[in-house]
Amino acid sequence: MERSLVCARFFFSFPWASSLRLGYILLLLLSANGFVSAATAPLKFGINYGQIANNLPPPTQVSGILQSLNVKRVKLYDADPSVLKAFAGTGVEFTVSGGDLVHMSDASNARAWVTQNVQPFLPATRITSIIVGNEVLSGDDTAAMQSLLPAMQAVHQALVDLGLDGEVNVSTSQSVNVLASSYPPSSGVFREDLAQYMEPLLDFHAQVGSPFLINAYPFFAYKASPSTVSLPYVLFEPNPGVRDPGTNLTYDNMLYAQIDAVYAAMEAMGHTDVSVRISETGWPSSGDADEVGATVQNAAAYNRNLMKRVAAGQGTPRRPDVPVDVLVFALFNENMKTGQASERNYGLFYPNGTSVYDLGLDSGGSPGTSPTTSGFYSSSKPMISFPVGVVVLLAAFFL
Ligand SMILES: *[C@@H]1O[C@H](CO)[C@@H](O)[C@H](O)[C@H]1NC(C)=O
Ligand SMILES: *[C@@H]1O[C@H](CO)[C@@H](O)[C@H](O)[C@H]1NC(C)=O
Ligand SMILES: *[C@@H]1O[C@H](CO)[C@@H](O)[C@H](O)[C@H]1NC(C)=O
Repeated sequence: MERSLVCARFFFSFPWASSLRLGYILLLLLSANGFVSAATAPLKFGINYGQIANNLPPPTQVSGILQSLNVKRVKLYDADPSVLKAFAGTGVEFTVSGGDLVHMSDASNARAWVTQNVQPFLPATRITSIIVGNEVLSGDDTAAMQSLLPAMQAVHQALVDLGLDGEVNVSTSQSVNVLASSYPPSSGVFREDLAQYMEPLLDFHAQVGSPFLINAYPFFAYKASPSTVSLPYVLFEPNPGVRDPGTNLTYDNMLYAQIDAVYAAMEAMGHTDVSVRISETGWPSSGDADEVGATVQNAAAYNRNLMKRVAAGQGTPRRPDVPVDVLVFALFNENMKTGQASERNYGLFYPNGTSVYDLGLDSGGSPGTSPTTSGFYSSSKPMISFPVGVVVLLAAFFL
């Protein structure tokens, strides 16, 4: 019921929802057998909603799409008020990102930022986390590196002062490149030149109880040396795995090895009290000629296999009881991202709402055990507009 209303709003606010479009949706509906029961269980993975593009659907429409997919966690690279408003009342959990670090390290600026960008949307929109700085410590902006922890502390203090620290936490996301060594995982250690930042940062995480977030892309490792890195190992496909001589634990995929390398690096700094989560991971469906491995097949395998493991609540070999927590990159292909072609092709969806590949989500809204059991999407050309379309159609009939 609640969903019908939300989608009805979505329907009436879009000019292209013409009778022609309805006919098209009806046609799709007739060919999408038995999918009305789709998507009831919430998905355990979240999605990065990047907006470096000039052709994305408006946030109200994205809200409808994500609800029909049962996506319950979304991360933004800013605190876009139009997005936060569009998701009011949906229950979707948001991670927002803060502004300039040097600016935010000032207590009154941090307080003003929280007052303007977070507080007004609570509690209608569930903002549960603020990310301060993205991949700052692996970059070369010394001023930003020095301001990182002060900015996090200032934002946290603002939350405490506003009585919001119980519902919103503060973190920062780092690239796995902050590690000097990541293989074997038990040898994981942070870069020595970053210790001055990393030690107090981990102390802060432990003190406020927020997770350490990493952006991890096994694709980069594969692309850099496709002849030595095993494709099944990076894609979570069946393979014999690699034994870590330091622990005798066996790893059958690179992402878990990277997570455990971060745990080992934190332990080397005396911290067993901070959890590691993945703030970004993904695989591009297309790339430049020299970007080996950037294909639809590999992207589909990576994300599908990862989603199955996340749905199963699997932990890593070093932390078997801590379910791997993932925000997939990204919701849409983003046509205005710079760099190599792969950068513009990480999306699970094209801007028009068509999925780039079958994610293998079954009718329970969770990844099926085999791609052939998929009932959520049609087999050949999965269309995200199916579930939205049906609800729109029903809403149109009932109103
Ligand atoms: C802290 O952040 C994590 C996501 O990184 C979230 O799952 C958790 O609920 C947050 N805690 C609070 C108190 O909001
Ligand atoms: C790993 O297994 C080998 C052979 O069983 C054993 O000799 C070695 O001590 C083990 N190492 C660790 C770190 O447990
Ligand atoms: C959506 O966009 C993709 C990529 O441009 C295209 O292949 C597909 O046909 C489009 N789908 C619809 C329904 O327009």
